[in-house]
Amino acid sequence: GQGLTVLGLETSCDETAASVVRLGPDGATVLSSVIYSQIDEHAAYGGVVPEIAARSHVEMIDTVTRQAMEQSGLDWSELSGVAATAGPGLVGGVMVGLSYGKAVALARDLPLVAINHLEGHAVSARLGAETAYPFLLLLVSGGHCQLLEVRGIGDMSRLGTTIDDAAGEAFDKIAKAMGLGYPGGPALEKLAASGDGSRYDLPRALLGRKDCDFSFSGLKTAASRLAQTCETDQDRADLADAVQKAIARQLMERTERAMKAYLESHPELVAYDAEAGTSKSGQRLFVVAGGVAANKTVRATLQKLATKYGFGFFAPPMAYCTDNAAMIALAGAERLEKGWVSDLDAVARPRWPL
Ligand code: KG4
Ligand code: ZN
Repeated sequence: GQGLTVLGLETSCDETAASVVRLGPDGATVLSSVIYSQIDEHAAYGGVVPEIAARSHVEMIDTVTRQAMEQSGLDWSELSGVAATAGPGLVGGVMVGLSYGKAVALARDLPLVAINHLEGHAVSARLGAETAYPFLLLLVSGGHCQLLEVRGIGDMSRLGTTIDDAAGEAFDKIAKAMGLGYPGGPALEKLAASGDGSRYDLPRALLGRKDCDFSFSGLKTAASRLAQTCETDQDRADLADAVQKAIARQLMERTERAMKAYLESHPELVAYDAEAGTSKSGQRLFVVAGGVAANKTVRATLQKLATKYGFGFFAPPMAYCTDNAAMIALAGAERLEKGWVSDLDAVARPRWPL
């Protein structure tokens, strides 16, 4: 056949998104991906206001879904299922997309697949070049910072997580202290391009710890204090560069620990063959995903590390690093392929560890 075609819905934070993805024998094809960003509605408050987000999802979900269907060129009857984020996230927003997904499932007689948002990020690199399972994953977003061993859909185990803030949260909070807008990550990256952070000495966390956990609160406190001492635009650019390098460095150090542990428990994995250009199961494969994976310094630092340890380096196309519904549709298609569907009484979960 021509594979599975799934409508995905994403409403767990501040983007209302819908997408149609086809999963065939040669991997995933994104037929449409529509994202309505609420950033302007939250900007004045310096962060996402849950109540405003939920109301906005109610207002936009139908329009965004119809646009995604129209752009896919498909009729509703050609869909194999509907996948909706069921958590973790702002539960008021999650309920909107999940309930809308249930309505679509009922009205169009389609199976519903409730998706963990983190699982969506975990498969997002498979929306670009096909990334074979298993792989080592660094998931770095606004709400999460985790290292995971991903053996397949629904089969993942955690090697490390943050003991305080997520990396994206650190970007956002430091950017806020520096007077940059929300979301802070992209703004800070832009500012850092004209800076040289070498004169700023920022603390390094967890140096003695043998696990793969993260901590960004010390960096956040130190950088926020330094932000008050900045007088010129150059001072701010220099601090932005120092912050970006410090975050990239910690991501690299903890990922290096995870790579060593992963290789120790999987001595059978062979080095990635960069000449062949495609990934194969049984090779050392590393994926970075989530909003922070859009950061070029972070990407370059991790790519270098991956090469050093014989790993192939994979990241989602830029458009699928930050929140989107294509990754939810793909996770739904991979679950549907296994025959895993959800009941119509599936619950929305504010917290839902992988
Ligand atoms: O994955 P995502 O869209 O939402 C969550 O699931 O959290 O990630 C959003 C996070 C925000 O913290 C944002 O500042 C960060 O990703 N981010 C970046 C960049 N683009 C987005 N951080 C650093 N550099 C970027 N270019
Ligand atoms: Zn996300």
